[in-house]
Amino acid sequence: MSDYKIRNKCGICSSTDLISILNLGKQPPANSLIDDLTLLSQEVKFPLRLGFCKNCCFVQLLDIVNKEFLFKNYLYMTSGSKPIVQHFNKYAKDIHDDFLKNDNESTVLEIGSNDGSLLLEFKKLGCKILGIEPAQNLAKLANELNISTQNSFFSSNVAKEIIKSKKISVVVANNVVGHIEDLHDFMNGIKILIGNDGIFIFEVPYLNDLIKKLEFDTIYHEHLSYFSLLPIINWVNQYELEIFDIKKQSVHGGTIRVFITKKGNIPQKNSVKTFLNEEHNYGLDKIETYEKFAQNVLNLKSKLLKKIMELKSENKSIIGYGAPAKGNVLLNYCNIDHKIIDFIIDTTPLKQGKFTPGTHIPIYHPSKMENKGSNDVSLLLAWNYKNEILENEKLFRDRGGKFLIPIPEPTII
Ligand code: TMP
Ligand code: ZN
Repeated sequence: MSDYKIRNKCGICSSTDLISILNLGKQPPANSLIDDLTLLSQEVKFPLRLGFCKNCCFVQLLDIVNKEFLFKNYLYMTSGSKPIVQHFNKYAKDIHDDFLKNDNESTVLEIGSNDGSLLLEFKKLGCKILGIEPAQNLAKLANELNISTQNSFFSSNVAKEIIKSKKISVVVANNVVGHIEDLHDFMNGIKILIGNDGIFIFEVPYLNDLIKKLEFDTIYHEHLSYFSLLPIINWVNQYELEIFDIKKQSVHGGTIRVFITKKGNIPQKNSVKTFLNEEHNYGLDKIETYEKFAQNVLNLKSKLLKKIMELKSENKSIIGYGAPAKGNVLLNYCNIDHKIIDFIIDTTPLKQGKFTPGTHIPIYHPSKMENKGSNDVSLLLAWNYKNEILENEKLFRDRGGKFLIPIPEPTII
């Protein structure tokens, strides 16, 4: 099996009228941290281009890296992030109150259940649960914590097997729908699982936020799709399903929670029309909006590099804060490597001691910041946790240390 292919038709409407709207250059998979610098010869890079379907307005990657290659050893763990765990706690309560209060018999199924953090919240509320998780390490971990988890990629065949022994009332999928290559087999599987009266709820980063806040670094090989409501409607309608509600969430730089059921099962809320109007008014259905976005991304890159060169000319030393996947996209796209950044700190033990892909910057435990201060500037790569990190690093800032926030506009604070 080849590691990489180019998409030749739209993932939702199958039109071949796809055009490239942003080229982020050749990039290593954004989560592929390097264990040891002697292994650099094995490093691989793939093109990374964002495309737009002129027929249905679906924004999607044009370059598809084989999923076995991307997900075989997955380092991202939901439970490692406090704001996400809080989000899941409220999420489970809301879904339980709205849809599961009088239902003790059926199961809540999560697709891409990671380490089981969300299912745990449903379990605490008394629900029966089942997770489907492709990463072997995570599925094992969840099962050890008594969160019943099947280790596989989700497909319509998996759905057929599940309904033989279980009634599913609610299916949830968080930050995984954007990873799915075959959206049609996926939605077919959902239709099988939810039957006549079940509900499918998914959360994905919202394209409108990505464009407005210039979050271009959230574009990477794992994220094949960038959703707005308009193409989602086209997608689910092909399966006689319907969106009955949509809600905005603040996590991951701006997320939407989309509620789906069989056509006619639940009356549609006004939120659907409101979102569609907003998307149209903002121009998410027009190519010009994306051309402007691409120009803004180019401008951001030059401003950021200019700022960094100024700091270097003042003899400041620059370190990086956080080694998330998106940080690696930003570093690679802007050619900011180990010659510019001395090191990066990250709280995740699994990342410490490794090196960033493509840019080969060492990653250390946050204690490396201890004697940093007035001569140092920290480039905030994990900008989604800005408030938390600024609070945690009060001492660094008291000693005169500065943060450089890259997005949406490079700013020193
Ligand atoms: P995420 O955006 O994919 O959740 O990744 C955020 C990264 O930032 C993750 O590797 C952990 C790291 N991080 C810190 O190093 N310090 C912090 O205070 C926080 C909140 C995150
Ligand atoms: Zn299309």
